[in-house]
Amino acid sequence: MKIKFNHLAVAFTAVTFAACQPQESAVTLEHQGDTLTIVHITNPSKYLLLPIQESCNEGKVKLDTGSPADVAMDVRLAVDSVEYYVPFALPQGAKKAKVTIGRVSANAVCWENISLADTFDTANTDYYRPEYHHTPLYGWMNDANGLVYKDGEYHLYFQYNPYGSKWGNMHWGHSVSKDLVRWEHLDPAIARDTLGHIFSGSTVIDHNNSAGYGKDAMIAFYTSASDENGQIQCMAYSNDNGRTYTKYENNPILTPFDGLKDFRDPKVFWYEPAQKWYMIVSADKNMRFYSSADLKNWEYLSQFGEGYGVQPNQFECPDFIQLPVDGNKDNMKWVMIVNINPGCPFGGSATEYFVGDFDGKEFKCDTDKSITKWLDFGKDHYATVCFSNTGDRIIAVPWMSNWQYANVTPIRQYRGANALPRELSLYTKNGEVYMAANVVKETETLRKSTRKIESVNVENETVIDSITDGINSGVELEMDIVPGKAQIVGFDIMNAKGEKTKIYLDLKSGRAVMDRTESGLIAFGEKAEPHFKENHDRRKTESVNYINDFALGTWAPLSLCEGKSYHLNVFVDKCSVELFVDGGRIAMTNLVFPTEVYNSLRFYTEGGKAEIKNLNIHKLGL
Ligand code: FRU
Repeated sequence: MKIKFNHLAVAFTAVTFAACQPQESAVTLEHQGDTLTIVHITNPSKYLLLPIQESCNEGKVKLDTGSPADVAMDVRLAVDSVEYYVPFALPQGAKKAKVTIGRVSANAVCWENISLADTFDTANTDYYRPEYHHTPLYGWMNDANGLVYKDGEYHLYFQYNPYGSKWGNMHWGHSVSKDLVRWEHLDPAIARDTLGHIFSGSTVIDHNNSAGYGKDAMIAFYTSASDENGQIQCMAYSNDNGRTYTKYENNPILTPFDGLKDFRDPKVFWYEPAQKWYMIVSADKNMRFYSSADLKNWEYLSQFGEGYGVQPNQFECPDFIQLPVDGNKDNMKWVMIVNINPGCPFGGSATEYFVGDFDGKEFKCDTDKSITKWLDFGKDHYATVCFSNTGDRIIAVPWMSNWQYANVTPIRQYRGANALPRELSLYTKNGEVYMAANVVKETETLRKSTRKIESVNVENETVIDSITDGINSGVELEMDIVPGKAQIVGFDIMNAKGEKTKIYLDLKSGRAVMDRTESGLIAFGEKAEPHFKENHDRRKTESVNYINDFALGTWAPLSLCEGKSYHLNVFVDKCSVELFVDGGRIAMTNLVFPTEVYNSLRFYTEGGKAEIKNLNIHKLGL
């Protein structure tokens, strides 16, 4: 075998505190054949900076310590040109480290650009990075995981790839917040391991020490997913307020009794009447219930879902919550949240829910199988699940994207944001129980200044120019729309180039509409890529018609509201618009990519006069 050595210039000088002597870090590349390279590092600095090119195939990058627990990460190392870098952590205090990199040609440009460093710059470089929505500092993010409140902190774990801004290498990333809107980034809490990717799941506070890891230990449940093992449920615990987790030595705690391929995203909750822990897991086109006394041994109870809602779709990321109807605690209902992909009426991913009763064994839905209720009527609201341990408040956090195009949005340093947290409640309309998703009241603390306009009488067209210094650099629009005799009343949020996101009420057809066909960039990427290579063939057949997938309007039935007048809260950020009507009876979340900042509002009507009352233009900031 031909071995080619390639000495890189000394990339770094570090100070060892013990010796107080500068020690040189150095890296040597040993190409073995054409697609295996051994990276020898002496006096390892903190990171090996890996050059990335997103269109490349994934190489296999492994910190080789000789242990069977070493895991190769899938990294799109640059072959022709470097787009950005990701840090690969090296062991500290060691004299030498070895990283093996497979499936990357010896001629790739990454070899000239790979380097050692003790710091990694996370200053923002993305134009479309939101001003006030949660995003990872760098890398890819999808579903919110393990949402839990403890000791004054909300923990937001999330599906995270630290080695590139496309789906892969699932870890649980981690951020914490005291107020649900200002987030502090922490190190990933659970890393991909030899059992597989760390897929979605939940975290509970073990108040009674059921699992034996101490009273109030944080216990995380997630799916390990790999080709070899399939999808199996695992557990890990934390005794340091969720910063680090120890994986349970006897994982997995639950495997599918019938060998199901799609069996994932465990949500665990305490079920008071039985004095037991319950788990709800997505199982292909059903959700399965299990119960346990010690969080480790789980007994199957029942399943629900086949044939319910939009058909036939993959169930993912369940939640199961109990809420009072119309605020009446004597009338509690159970709600099963089901994220489905595909199945969204506008294409791709969406969140539906079912209202009913639970007897400790089975869930019975109040409505016919054919009835689907949507938690959000936009296209970028998925994998929505709720916090544990928040008492009577039920707070949900969506991932703000859609599997049709999530991997190709025009962003590079990071990819994936969360929509604003929403508080859920049940209300009755025409004898039916629905769930409202209203933005949490904590968002009011983002308001920095407010321009108030008491009343705007709109007939045909009214333009309000120069809205603060840019609407999508962080604005909330609040207003009451009184349609009067108008058949259509709405507004465009627009920029000087004429790019606009249109929001309007169409009273004739009874719809609230958000239209992004002219919102800015509406075509990007080469095609909507499947995000799973392992186990998820169905994603490969998903639509690649990315222009039509993105450039569209989404709508919700106005019949969910009481009518006469409509209260709107519209949150606009760098690349998103979220609409809440009448306290979340309608929620609609969509990504938009204007190429210039939106800075004006144009109100208009058709078929008669309308009034916009109490227009508040809140400038938002952290
Ligand atoms: C939902 C989902 C989950 C899975 C995770 C993998 O978006 O497909 O079912 O656990 O993403 O990243």
